Amino acid sequence: MKKVTPKTDRFTWDADSVVWDKTPEPAPGSQFAGSECSFRVAVAGATGAVGREILKTLAERNFPISEVAALASGRSAGSQVSFGDDRVLTVKNLDKFDFTGWDLALFSPGAAVSAIHAPRAGAAGCVVIDNTSQFRMDPEVPLVVPEVNPQAIAQFTRRNIIANPNCSTIQMVVALKPLHDKFRIKRVVVATYQSVSGAGKEGMDELLANTKVHYVHDKNPPQVFQKDIAFNVIPQIDVFMEDGATKEEWKMVVETQKILDPGIAVIATCVRVPVFIGHAEAVHVEFERPVSVGEARAALRHAPGVIVYDQREDGGYITPAECQGEDAVYVSRIRRDATVPHGLAFWCVSDNLRKGAALNAVQIAEYLVAHDMLRKKTEKAA
Ligand SMILES: NC(=O)c1ccc[n+]([C@@H]2O[C@H](COP(=O)([O-])OP(=O)(O)OC[C@H]3O[C@@H](n4cnc5c(N)ncnc54)[C@H](OP(=O)(O)O)[C@@H]3O)[C@@H](O)[C@H]2O)c1
Repeated sequence: MKKVTPKTDRFTWDADSVVWDKTPEPAPGSQFAGSECSFRVAVAGATGAVGREILKTLAERNFPISEVAALASGRSAGSQVSFGDDRVLTVKNLDKFDFTGWDLALFSPGAAVSAIHAPRAGAAGCVVIDNTSQFRMDPEVPLVVPEVNPQAIAQFTRRNIIANPNCSTIQMVVALKPLHDKFRIKRVVVATYQSVSGAGKEGMDELLANTKVHYVHDKNPPQVFQKDIAFNVIPQIDVFMEDGATKEEWKMVVETQKILDPGIAVIATCVRVPVFIGHAEAVHVEFERPVSVGEARAALRHAPGVIVYDQREDGGYITPAECQGEDAVYVSRIRRDATVPHGLAFWCVSDNLRKGAALNAVQIAEYLVAHDMLRKKTEKAA
């Protein structure tokens, strides 16, 4: 089987083999080189799966920071987390943290905690980018994927809060956006294959523990997931709604409509799979206009944040294991869906902790800086 190493190999495009190249992105963080402004940034949920990835992403992309605070619950106050290769931060208690004078806060402490502390930070003049589900459907809070609806960011001033969408929604709308612009989407049917890191560090621990006990013919009663996640798949993510859908499935519907177009009909089946990092989705799309496979590839080829890798041969597609630590949304297995008038099916994969959470949040922060929307600080980056 061919080994895929997306970060280092540039793909070559030829119309028959349908392997796409993209113009190389600028070096990470290069847009801030020489920047005179730097900002006081707090990360709430800094000890969690998303919070650690946020700290890593801020450092990797050289976000202009004069001071950084790592915040979590009182349980982990005083512990340490890494910031970049050579800095260690001592975790502070979010409950006691005063956001006055802080420019930006990236939140991922869970919805109930964000509900209390994000408005408190916003009221203190600190702009919050929140990864939880708490504010996503609030009409006064923009829900943003920078490749899709960056224009919505400007609405943050009403509450000083910007919401990051659900991880499975983000990767899907990044792939749908260029197709919707050209061919107008009517309906989306999506089945997800979501990794355990979507349930945080405890979800990852449970997969590891339950996998180990299988080998000694034992069982761990499930705690994070509803059934044993080892060597299994579970068709439930989040709680059940009245209509029989789960809340994760509902989120994919309403968030796609808020971000991309309220006129698009969406039905989702969200499934947890025993993979540590990386969500996959089988997406079936019905368009208003005729669309050929070649036209769809051409639209996706130039779309920001998308890499098409679609070789139509053994292993000629991207899997979750190959997208870990990567920024892109990978699209493979593009083919016609002949069961509807203008139909297309594809496979889409992305790192849920990165583009599905941390990277998307940091890209929003970069947009705020690039458009001079954060209060300027005179200090140079630390
Ligand atoms: N994982 C993903 O792929 C993903 C993607 C998009 C959005 N999200 C959302 O992001 C949030 C966090 O997810 P995660 O995967 O990072 O979870 P996680 O690994 O369980 O981390 C949770 C974080 O929240 C902190 N926290 C918990 N209770 C707190 C409290 N009372 N006060 C202050 N901090 C508290 C924890 O600190 P302690 O260590 O002190 O407990 C930890 O830092 C969730 O709302 C999730 O839905 C996750």
